[in-house]
Amino acid sequence: MANIIVTGAGSGIGRELCRYLLESGAHTVTGISRSRAVPAEIQAAVCAEGAVYHHYPMDITRYSDIRAFREWLVASHIVPDGLVNNAGMMLRRPFEEITPKEAEEVLQVNFLAPFMLIQDLLPLMPRGSHVVNITSMGGVNGSVKFSGLSIYSASKGALSVLTEVLAEELKERDIRVNALALGAVQTPMLEKTFPGYQAPVLPREMAKYTGDFVLTGHRFFNGKVLQVAVTTP
Ligand SMILES: NC(=O)c1ccc[n+]([C@@H]2O[C@H](COP(=O)([O-])OP(=O)(O)OC[C@H]3O[C@@H](n4cnc5c(N)ncnc54)[C@H](OP(=O)(O)O)[C@@H]3O)[C@@H](O)[C@H]2O)c1
Repeated sequence: MANIIVTGAGSGIGRELCRYLLESGAHTVTGISRSRAVPAEIQAAVCAEGAVYHHYPMDITRYSDIRAFREWLVASHIVPDGLVNNAGMMLRRPFEEITPKEAEEVLQVNFLAPFMLIQDLLPLMPRGSHVVNITSMGGVNGSVKFSGLSIYSASKGALSVLTEVLAEELKERDIRVNALALGAVQTPMLEKTFPGYQAPVLPREMAKYTGDFVLTGHRFFNGKVLQVAVTTP
């Protein structure tokens, strides 16, 4: 992989993933988050020779932003061969209290935005590209479920199924699509949603696993939803 795009670069796993990829041989890493500021952790990355970081602030739920992002890639002569749909939004609320607006927002961030981003970037992606969707153990059929995570888990389940379908649809173009269904990781998202819970995995640990998978997983997997969890059976 030479030019990798990572959504959700502002914090948690995405921020550590950008850093890891810069240190591990990616040529360019483009991190997307709504915030304009480049996270200090990424600035502090010990970049491999020639590795460059671009920070692209945008709201991934706005289609106009996605179109502008594609134009920016073209103008910058960046040919994306890796895309990590990592940005996400968690909502923990009793099913009957979730408003239509909240449900829409979670579906937009966790499902429709990756859908649109993949669709828009595909024409730019060469053979051998790898799309990695970050889903959740809660979105895996038959896994242990958590009360209050109905719309969040359903949105991740939708992204997992999209992964399987796209792998089939894009296989003639030699573009591989996989998903990592993560268990608990100690990030701001988890801390906000489950205060006091201590996850067994740190963001940088999950970022290393994810980064290695982005760089090499497409040689061995296509259309797979891999469960990455020590906590959830
Ligand atoms: N942590 C866990 O235990 C866990 C478990 C299973 C799966 N996951 C998944 O792992 C991924 C990363 O989560 P995390 O725990 O690292 O969360 P996090 O620390 O909250 O990071 C989420 C990132 O998503 C970005 N984001 C959210 N809405 C956005 C939008 N509309 N446009 C652009 N960027 C947006 C945020 O950036 P800005 O606010 O700067 O825009 C932030 O950088 C998510 O998909 C999550 O569902 C996490």
